[in-house]
Amino acid sequence: MRISGLSLCWAGSWNLFWRRLQAFAITLFLLATGIGSVQAETGQAAWLRYVPLDPATRAKYSSIPRLVMRVGDSPVLASAEQELTRGLRGLLGGEFRTSTSLNDGPVILMGTLDSVGTVIKDMFSPLNLAGDGYWIADANMGGSACIIITSPNDHGVLYGVFAFLSKIARAENLQSLSEFQVPANTIRMVDQWDNLDGTIERGYAGPSLFFENGRVREDLSRAAEYARLLASVGINTCAINNVNANPRLLEKDFLPQVRRVAEAFRPWGVRLALSVDLSSPQKIAGLPTFDPLDPRVAAWWQHTVDALYAEIPDFAGFVVKADSEGRAGPASYGRTPADAANVIARALKPHGGLLFYRSFVYDHHLDWRNPKNDRARAAYDIFHPLDGQFADNVVIQIKHGPIDFQVREPVSPLIGGLQKTNEAIELQITQEYTGQQRHLCYLLPMWKQVLDFDMRNAGQSTPVRELLSGKIYQRPYGGLVGVSNVGMDPNWLAHPLAMANLYGFGRLAWDPTLSAQAITEEWTRLTFGNHATTVDTIDAMLLSSWNIYESYTGPLGAGTLADILGSHYGPGPESSERNGWGQWHRADNGGIGMDRSVATGTGYVAQYSPAVAKHYESVETTPDELLLFFHHVPYTYKLHSGKTVIQHIYDSHYDGASRAAALVTQWQSLQGRVDQARYEDVLRRLEYQAGHAIVWRDAICNWFARISGIPDEQGRVGHYPGRVEAEDMELHGYVVFDVTPWEAASGGKGVECPSTSESCMASFHFTGTPGRYDIDVRYFDQSNGVSQFRAYLGDQLIAEWSADDHLPATVPNADSSTRYRIPGMALETGDALRIEGRPDGPERAALDYVEFTAANP
Ligand code: GCU
Repeated sequence: MRISGLSLCWAGSWNLFWRRLQAFAITLFLLATGIGSVQAETGQAAWLRYVPLDPATRAKYSSIPRLVMRVGDSPVLASAEQELTRGLRGLLGGEFRTSTSLNDGPVILMGTLDSVGTVIKDMFSPLNLAGDGYWIADANMGGSACIIITSPNDHGVLYGVFAFLSKIARAENLQSLSEFQVPANTIRMVDQWDNLDGTIERGYAGPSLFFENGRVREDLSRAAEYARLLASVGINTCAINNVNANPRLLEKDFLPQVRRVAEAFRPWGVRLALSVDLSSPQKIAGLPTFDPLDPRVAAWWQHTVDALYAEIPDFAGFVVKADSEGRAGPASYGRTPADAANVIARALKPHGGLLFYRSFVYDHHLDWRNPKNDRARAAYDIFHPLDGQFADNVVIQIKHGPIDFQVREPVSPLIGGLQKTNEAIELQITQEYTGQQRHLCYLLPMWKQVLDFDMRNAGQSTPVRELLSGKIYQRPYGGLVGVSNVGMDPNWLAHPLAMANLYGFGRLAWDPTLSAQAITEEWTRLTFGNHATTVDTIDAMLLSSWNIYESYTGPLGAGTLADILGSHYGPGPESSERNGWGQWHRADNGGIGMDRSVATGTGYVAQYSPAVAKHYESVETTPDELLLFFHHVPYTYKLHSGKTVIQHIYDSHYDGASRAAALVTQWQSLQGRVDQARYEDVLRRLEYQAGHAIVWRDAICNWFARISGIPDEQGRVGHYPGRVEAEDMELHGYVVFDVTPWEAASGGKGVECPSTSESCMASFHFTGTPGRYDIDVRYFDQSNGVSQFRAYLGDQLIAEWSADDHLPATVPNADSSTRYRIPGMALETGDALRIEGRPDGPERAALDYVEFTAANP
């Protein structure tokens, strides 16, 4: 449809006006039908929203006492009491008051077992209630129907309160209440990789909650809120600074600043931990050495730790990254990680502190020409021989896979290999290699697979989750550490749906036997309400998203194929090869995959127990999804699925991209059921993801088509009907350039407008059949400029937009490639279209192509 006779400016506004009018009409419809009455939310409340339940659900809880009686006093108990009244008021409405006597009427009685025992003399609590465990139960006290929330300690009471509120928010039945929970793990910790200047390494949600301009923030209210959020899922420790640690944090004059963060955490039972640089004795105190076996070094650690505990008596401990990616370490003195860990552990021991030593130690200058070299071997080769040599307050912190948080890796064999040492698994909540919170990738199903994996030690059932908890080898400490990297973004992790990863991590740290389905449903209900359609839709989206992401990024265990030398974000399959980092996939003209077998490969497979090793040693018994991690095979190798490897690569990338597009439609079905602010935020991200999935699909498929020389059976790869390359358009001012790497752009080329030009133009004629089309303009949005674009159909302005996203690139490539969709345009064959670009400094309004897809009727 044409809008002839209007001025250009008015025509553009008309288009936008028309879209807004449509949105308004939909909202009116939803309001009229009663499903649109949802309040706008920022996401800051996360899963602790406490929004009023509907009247029917509220009625279920009419017998809940309106009095809260706390016995005992401590900052954590005070938080528990406040949380309880706040939550109940929000969910159920009306007043909830505190009381000091059982004679005032039915109460919710909360306190530790000991203190509750002073009020109820003949209470029978569950026998195994220990540590941070809690018990929530109905109780008849003096003829009144009361509720007890109790635990051996204050922290458990707080966890019990959160659990009680969660049940109500999820509309659970509270009849015959007797819920008894003991956490499986002592270590339930998050690591933040925050820098003192306020940036966060691999953080995708704004600046640090803790630091700015080299200091601890004045206002730590978000830090306190974060501690509340962590406590609500049972997390008890947070390391606040980058593992690539700045020694400044340990300087004496800095400790009072760190103390303020510990104070913000304390009311929520979250203990503060710090990452430390092993060369601190040299860097801070000017000692000539940081050799862990030098007595001066040991003395320095001791008095530094003593000073720290004088400021922070409940300090949790240190995290150490050493001899890794350029960090100082014991290898400089020919010492072992055990030497280094133990000297600091000894200093922490009298104070009850732990030393988390990361097993992420490897040589990043490996000789890639040697087919026997294998980065995956490093952690086990270094740490397994030291089993039994670590002090009993040392915990080895092990990334879940042997490489580095790839979209698919086997479980790290070191987890099965340590039997006389405490261990914790390190999972990554921040989505470094899994879409950086721009792509939906819910990692819980992956983590569940890891935790449930059976290491078959000594031929027995030894699942990872039980090795970690210390249950199998009677270790005193063990559990889960999550690299979370939340930031000042109101949504904590920026993508509202990414918060399910943080929630799920906490729940698994508490109880790794919970199913992914159960945890997901909890989160969705708490975050978006209890309506069945909403819950089913969001659960399905979340639970399919890891598989979708994997399908259009990294196939068959080869890794993510992301640009590993830079952003770790968009496709960059070449970047893994011919360098010392060891993230090799070994793709060449004949085949792909790392041979890690004992018979012909690097021997990595032998690091597993014999039962597991047998499984991975043979190409026939290795599951398809890990095939290329363990074996090098020809592209024509037939998978268990019956497809060849190369056809699987093509098919899975097309399938993944189309399922990413379907996520948009699934989400759109929730319009009016989710508040508009979060609805639009998620929609915008999913639309972006669907577009970027196409960048991934095309880059990876074209790269493999070129390297293998084998075409796609279905003829899709390299053929894009409906696509008009920018370099084939009539250009005014725009110049053609080669995009690097070539697979990042369609045809390897784009057009850019020289910075010296005011604006440039690319025009062409539509050659398709008449109809309604979605028009996708594929362009490059760098982080170092805000170019402007306008699209015209004939003389009519049909869209205008700014390239103002903050994608992780300062050049046109697969990270900055994005699209603008002009939906549902009526087109005639021969219609003239043109794109006008206005560059901004180094961002040159670069274009890749325009693509026409038949619009949905
Ligand atoms: C990855 C990540 C780094 C990080 C490192 C680590 O390599 O890219 O930013 O420092 O892991 O876990 O130590």
